[in-house]
Amino acid sequence: MKLKSLFTITTLLAFQYSNAQYNQLWIPDTLTGTNFNLSIKDTFAQICNTGNQTITGGINGKFWGPTLIFKKGDIVHLNVKNNLNDSTTIHWHGMHLPAVMDGGPHQVIPPGALWQPYWKVVNNAATYWYHPHLHEMTMEHITKGIGGLIIVRDSLESSLKLPRTYGLDDIPMVLTDRDINSSRQFDLVPYGDSCLVNMTLRAQYTVPTQVVRFRLLNAAIERSFNIGFSDNRTFYVIGSDGGLLNAPVPLTRYLLHAGERIEILVDFKGQTSAIDIKAFNSTLGNAIPGGENFPNGPFANALGKKDFVMLHLNFKSATGNAITSIPTALTNNVLLKSADAQITRALTMTDSAGVPGTLGPNTFIINHRLFKLNYIDYNVPLNNTEIWQITNSTAFGHPFHIHDVEFNIISVNGAAPSAAQAGWKDVVFVPGATGGGPGGGGTPYVVKFIAKFDDYADALHPFMYHCHISLHEDEGMMGQFVVTDPSNKINTNENITSFSLYPNPANQTLYFKFNNSNQNVYYVRIVDVLGRTILMLPAPELNNGIDISQLIPGVYSVMLTDAYSKKVSIQNFVKE
Ligand code: C2O
Ligand code: CU
Repeated sequence: MKLKSLFTITTLLAFQYSNAQYNQLWIPDTLTGTNFNLSIKDTFAQICNTGNQTITGGINGKFWGPTLIFKKGDIVHLNVKNNLNDSTTIHWHGMHLPAVMDGGPHQVIPPGALWQPYWKVVNNAATYWYHPHLHEMTMEHITKGIGGLIIVRDSLESSLKLPRTYGLDDIPMVLTDRDINSSRQFDLVPYGDSCLVNMTLRAQYTVPTQVVRFRLLNAAIERSFNIGFSDNRTFYVIGSDGGLLNAPVPLTRYLLHAGERIEILVDFKGQTSAIDIKAFNSTLGNAIPGGENFPNGPFANALGKKDFVMLHLNFKSATGNAITSIPTALTNNVLLKSADAQITRALTMTDSAGVPGTLGPNTFIINHRLFKLNYIDYNVPLNNTEIWQITNSTAFGHPFHIHDVEFNIISVNGAAPSAAQAGWKDVVFVPGATGGGPGGGGTPYVVKFIAKFDDYADALHPFMYHCHISLHEDEGMMGQFVVTDPSNKINTNENITSFSLYPNPANQTLYFKFNNSNQNVYYVRIVDVLGRTILMLPAPELNNGIDISQLIPGVYSVMLTDAYSKKVSIQNFVKE
């Protein structure tokens, strides 16, 4: 009896001791090919070592989602099933694709619906990601953990001597933070008390003693991470949001803001003792997200203005075929030239004092107006090259993100971008006004970038630009633009006025027959008798019919939107 209880106490102590230590870093599964099934659902995960599971949102799993591996040039088909009890969207952050496939706040997937966007991958090899984007719900859905990485591969990147064995010498690191309450649930707050890497608390990983690549994504609601190593070693930035840099850039710190990605190489040859990848946030100023030190209130958190460990690294011996040196050159980016720009658009970031519908002076807006889903801020002519100049008069810095394009930073307050920011980007940090007080004032900060808006004209569906701090985005720090083709005249005579469906009743495949040979379909939506959207097909290819095998028997309506007139025609069919 005595012995047994002693044993229990010893094991209990050992258990608690190991809890205080590290957890194995979770590496998300990968999905490859051209057909990707994603099921978004409410679920649970054992985030804490002890106590309740945490209510989470996951894609195909318990939390976060699989890493999608795309090959440049492939046409990828995404089957996104919303099994949440709530509408959501999935946005392919950084991908150049049609607006109707983009998954912004307009492509709402109702509960139970299957959304099937597809597109040709034209992005460079780099690390991208996907995440919910439902207006005013983005922070909540991202906090639940819904999201995933995208790795694009291309022939240029594949020809370089770079580590690319996923989970072995090519390690994804999704950086975020959460506030975990006493019942082990996530609080809906902009800053958490605990850092999570790949949704793992106190993560550790064992890597081989060779050159290792890390793909770092800042997936936090608000916090920036000032990345470095505990021994202050040099690492080499090889890629930014939208592709490789011309050459590796040696650094000891990189400040990664919400939505941004970098890829780095680190040479661990001969390494024996464990080291940490840390956020050196104690050195950040008050105007940098995570550099504030609020003692209390909704922004108070244990990590504010602190240095903290993100990933503890242990070492094992090198693999066969290890990459053992840092390449000297990577690519030759042909950047856009200011002289080629047709227009400079001046955007402002201000607080929202006095602006109707806002939360007052403590929230932020773009161009002095609160985001509205039905207001288009800019009409960008197809093939325009544009300079966007963002002037931040607020006392705080904001990571600005634009959909549709990857851009080149021209200047940050008049200076050229740093070498690690001189490639392709889709997020740029616009620091707060300098020299003002906490309430503002001071000299605004100005960032300029240049982008070319080629392909994908669509007068109906806009692309978004916004602050990637989801709290700010949800509060209305967002705007939208449409890319339009001036040569594309609306011809209502080309409207698909009638179509029929066959066979009817149908069982597996539903075929379309058009009265007009010039069929150009913008959208097909299948709705059940209760009006619930079951299937959402943007720009569907209808020649081979559509797969209805998963529909339960009953009567359905097909709502077909014509590409030119955007008029909707409806036909019913019976699924047997
Ligand atoms: Cu990653 Cu509009 O967002
Ligand atoms: Cu912001």
